Amino acid sequence: MTERVVRVGMVGCGTVGSAVVRLLRDHQEDIAQRAGCRLEVTRVAVRDLGRERDVPLPAERFTADPDEVVRAPDVDVVVELIGGIEPARTLLLEAIAAGRHVVTANKELLSTRGRELFDAAEAAGVDLAFEGAVGGGIPLIHPLKESLAGERIVRMLGIVNGTTNFVLTRMTEDGMSFQEALGSAEEMGIAEPDPTDDVEGIDAAAKCAILASIAFNARVVAGDVYREGIARVSREDIEFADRLGYVIKLLAIAELENEEVAVRVHPAMVPGDHPLAAVRETFNAVFVQGPNVGELMFYGRGAGGGPTATSVVGDLVDLARNITTGGRAVGCTCYEDRRIRPMEGMESQYYLLLDVVDRPGVLAQVAGAFGEHRVSIKSVWQEGRGDDALLVLITHRGNEGALQRTVGDLRSLEPVIEVRSVMRVEGEE
Ligand SMILES: NC(=O)c1ccc[n+]([C@@H]2O[C@H](COP(=O)([O-])OP(=O)(O)OC[C@H]3O[C@@H](n4cnc5c(N)ncnc54)[C@H](OP(=O)(O)O)[C@@H]3O)[C@@H](O)[C@H]2O)c1
Repeated sequence: MTERVVRVGMVGCGTVGSAVVRLLRDHQEDIAQRAGCRLEVTRVAVRDLGRERDVPLPAERFTADPDEVVRAPDVDVVVELIGGIEPARTLLLEAIAAGRHVVTANKELLSTRGRELFDAAEAAGVDLAFEGAVGGGIPLIHPLKESLAGERIVRMLGIVNGTTNFVLTRMTEDGMSFQEALGSAEEMGIAEPDPTDDVEGIDAAAKCAILASIAFNARVVAGDVYREGIARVSREDIEFADRLGYVIKLLAIAELENEEVAVRVHPAMVPGDHPLAAVRETFNAVFVQGPNVGELMFYGRGAGGGPTATSVVGDLVDLARNITTGGRAVGCTCYEDRRIRPMEGMESQYYLLLDVVDRPGVLAQVAGAFGEHRVSIKSVWQEGRGDDALLVLITHRGNEGALQRTVGDLRSLEPVIEVRSVMRVEGEE
């Protein structure tokens, strides 16, 4: 085995960090073969030095001062695994300024301050790798940046948040309400004590921004992503979706149309035979479409220490090879200046559930509201009679702004008691 050593400094040694240290130990021979050198964790910064940790490292390698790691002369690569914006941002910038290659899995930071970090890495001539930031253990960043460099990706549909996918799976398969399913996720440790980031689609929007940036070579930030969470998905929606042959998923959608980027995260009905419909429990998947490659799906464990650590270790192997061979990774690819399309300009199919009075002419009035805004109806289905008749409509693909105006008009129609639900339908050709 080669004796050359690349020294790794870690900032953060929690769920992901400790799994990285264990993988580096458990697979050291295979890693050395691939990297062309040994990888050794020389320093680790944590918050609480007294905490018990299952990591095969002597106590003297730990410090409570992360600056010691990012500035240490005996560190070649800094791995940031503390999360959040600060102090992660400052620490990474310091490491970069000190000429260290860096690895992070921090989607929050990359999706808001990515440009600053990539610019700094470019200026310093170092690599910034982040395979773990999206999709945990699913290789996504490398395939999008490198394997698919010859493709022009036009669309991505992703289930990129395991917690919400678990909640929707329980609602679909066990008939639970949103609150019951979330409670079950909390009991099982799948949902955080404060599940806001997951439930409101904030986590998925950060990942959507990162994926769109890479796929469309343009800087997309989390704030560009239109976002709706899953809290309003009702048992009734799940039931109607099932009866119509759909499954409800929280989708992260990134599209390139007429050179504009459209990015959004919201619950959507997907056809039961779409590959994404089979992505259950906490699994993640990203469905990618391009004119040459056709359709691809990347599927797997989107979170967890072990899965995410495999992505971090993969990045470390790449960087270690670059250090020993003098190579460089593909740098920032956000060189196109693209407009972000506002939500009103986007297109989708829609499902609507209306509570209407059942009497002659109502259907014509409802259809008239759609016609007024040029939203074309694909199918209508009526259930019940009298005062609580339900109308279920699926539209053809149409403009979001036109649909919203249609919904506004429907609300003011006298026989429409309530617009109970409006949901986008995705994945149908
Ligand atoms: N967990 C996942 O499934 C997953 C999946 C994909 C991406 N990620 C990303 O990976 C990163 C790490 O996540 P995680 O789940 O491993 O987090 P975690 O379990 O909370 O671990 C965070 C680690 O950072 C340390 N830390 C926090 N603030 C610090 C500071 N100011 N100085 C030094 N050390 C500090 C903590 O020290 P103590 O141990 O002393 O508290 C802990 O070791 C995040 O960016 C996250 O978004 C995580």
